[in-house]
Amino acid sequence: MAKLVINANRKLNKINKEIQGHFSEHLGRCIYEGLYVGENSEIPNVNGMRTDVVEALKKIRIPVLRWPGGCFADEYHWKDGVGPKENRKKIINTHWGGVVEDNSFGTHEFFELCRQLGCETYVNGNMGSGTVQEMSEWVEYMTFEGVSPMADLRTQNGHKESWKVDFFGVGNENWGCGGNMNPEFYGNMYRRYQTYVRCYDSDKPIQKIACGANVDDYEWTEEVMKAAFRRCAPQLHGFMDGLSLHYYTHPGGWENKGSATDFDEKMWYQTMKKTWYMEELIERHGAIMDKYDPDKQVGMIIDEWGTWFDVEPGTNPGFLYQQNTMRDALVAGINLNIFNKHSDRVKMANIAQMVNVLQAVILTEGEKMVKTPTYHVFDMYQYHQDAQLLDSSLETEQVGLEDHNMVPNLSESVSVDEDGVMHITMTNLDLSNDYTIDTTILGRKAEEISAEIVTGEMHEMNTFDNPEQVVVKPFEGVEKVHGGIRFVIPACSVLHIAVK
Ligand code: AHR
Repeated sequence: MAKLVINANRKLNKINKEIQGHFSEHLGRCIYEGLYVGENSEIPNVNGMRTDVVEALKKIRIPVLRWPGGCFADEYHWKDGVGPKENRKKIINTHWGGVVEDNSFGTHEFFELCRQLGCETYVNGNMGSGTVQEMSEWVEYMTFEGVSPMADLRTQNGHKESWKVDFFGVGNENWGCGGNMNPEFYGNMYRRYQTYVRCYDSDKPIQKIACGANVDDYEWTEEVMKAAFRRCAPQLHGFMDGLSLHYYTHPGGWENKGSATDFDEKMWYQTMKKTWYMEELIERHGAIMDKYDPDKQVGMIIDEWGTWFDVEPGTNPGFLYQQNTMRDALVAGINLNIFNKHSDRVKMANIAQMVNVLQAVILTEGEKMVKTPTYHVFDMYQYHQDAQLLDSSLETEQVGLEDHNMVPNLSESVSVDEDGVMHITMTNLDLSNDYTIDTTILGRKAEEISAEIVTGEMHEMNTFDNPEQVVVKPFEGVEKVHGGIRFVIPACSVLHIAVK
């Protein structure tokens, strides 16, 4: 038995919908094949974008998409990807498999994809190998509406109207693949580059995101905040609106990530331990940000997160293609609950990556497509988008098989949406035990209840031959009791309860 107390009278902050954001890089089969097949493909498409994939993504209401990388971003020269396709430069994708990148998916195609998805745009600029002028011209090309060299070029390339860039990243992983900079140097470079990320239309503000730390590099956060944060009146934009953080769950460490599908119970708990580490990272980086920015003007933007395992045997090691099991479903559910609970500071998060790469929500093979267990977790959590976080607390206990890998068995987050419906999402990572959850709800009655669940044996997954092994199923076991509700959350499951 565990106690959950929800105080419906204590509305905390808004949970930004962007917390359920996605990331797509020119890496492996994410963009090409996964999202974009070209107008002449036999795979049904609209302007080159796969219809099946776009429809599946719309169902989970993806709020924002980051592009074109990742490490690819700091070698991407945007002019290679505009204009007639036959004239676009063919380049080598040095980071990811050394394959030919024909630039057939570029700026216009990205905005077309986001139009079809109905999502916001997050463009990541090139600071590592690009000039200030190149970055500033890209922003002009995308967003300037009047007469100017870049707006004219856009018109000449078939798009008279400017687009809206909601978020712009100034470099990616500049401590590593984005130029191997130290934080003081990056902080100063950031100040300079961001100056020329001009906002040409005050009705279309661009939120500028600085490159943040790798995992637990707290010095990076300290030095970049010191160099580049400028406090200003809330209605004005300072130098930065967001600072990123990258943290991947590789259970056996970078050198020994382990198989995505063949793992034992010890590895399961080790993965969960690494997942829970996200909370410590948010709290410690957040405490540093608080010193400089106590009003929380700058969002923490966790724009790369998720599992990173060994690639599927027989696939290109540079393509980072991995399967997705119930283990990934738990990793997703726990992380999303952690982000919600810290959504006073965490303003966006982008799972890596959307299709066919790392912890993908969708896998494709030719014309076939499967929705992964992670997809189904996003499907259940979508009700938290832009809802108000409610104060909640849950009793947990440490579970696991080894002393160094003990983890809290349960996680939760609770919100209320604009129609007044309360949404509880909960995970149970324990592989052997179900838990009865005695829930007290202060400040409101539970009139109508519905619930759904993703559950299964830890290795269960969806394959092209068996695409519906793990899906969202109705969950009947929630009973009303005096002052709240009671239910039993099964072992190895992610649950969503809606209370009216
Ligand atoms: O998501 C794969 C890679 O991981 C990204 O390109 C990079 O930013 C990170 O190291």
